[in-house]
Amino acid sequence: MRVLLTGAAGFIGSQIADLLVDEGHDLVALDALLPQAHGGELPEWSRRHDPVVGDVRDARLLDRLLGGVDAVCHQAAMVGHGLDPSDAPDYVSHNDYATVVLLAAMHRVGVSRLVLASSMVVYGEGRYDCATHGTVRPAVRSVADLAAGRYEPTCPDCAGTLASALVSEDALLEPRSTYA
Ligand SMILES: NC(=O)c1ccc[n+]([C@@H]2O[C@H](COP(=O)([O-])OP(=O)(O)OC[C@H]3O[C@@H](n4cnc5c(N)ncnc54)[C@H](O)[C@@H]3O)[C@@H](O)[C@H]2O)c1
Ligand SMILES: [Zn+2]
Repeated sequence: MRVLLTGAAGFIGSQIADLLVDEGHDLVALDALLPQAHGGELPEWSRRHDPVVGDVRDARLLDRLLGGVDAVCHQAAMVGHGLDPSDAPDYVSHNDYATVVLLAAMHRVGVSRLVLASSMVVYGEGRYDCATHGTVRPAVRSVADLAAGRYEPTCPDCAGTLASALVSEDALLEPRSTYA
């Protein structure tokens, strides 16, 4: 299978690149080598896979790279929680806008198979159950609770104790940062 791998120089993408090549797939590796992720150093693996250095937001580049591709594995993103709201435009541009440029290019070229990386941060606090109210979005911690060293979130409906539970893929979405 011919696979376009975005974010191929990243922490996760570089592992996927190795696996794809080891399993005999035809790899098209793309990465913008963001300075936030790489500090100017070309990662060691890049010399093994010879990636195209370019940006997912570049529709013309995508049209060229998608020729003959069977599937896309989209791992390019700006990760971490950022310093302050001033970097929100970069998060939205690299994560949301780049993804829709990619989806539009896949549609143009007729590629329909996509693996898209998400993150557990979309679930916010995770899953919490109240004995009375079932699965709830935990209330924001009060300053008084934090000052008293009470860090466990409480039920937004009855302020009662919550039990944490395993997070499944259909857990409530509760993004709490620009990245999330
Ligand atoms: N590392 C984790 O623990 C973790 C956990 C949950 C989810 N994820 C998700 O997995 C994906 C990969 O994360 P990672 O940890 O490998 O991050 P990373 O920063 O190591 O790699 C991301 C790569 O994408 C590249 N990139 C960013 N914007 C680009 C653009 N516009 N065009 C081309 N390349 C671009 C960067 O240069 C970088 O090499 C992300 O979607 C992230 O949200 C990672
Ligand atoms: Zn309750």
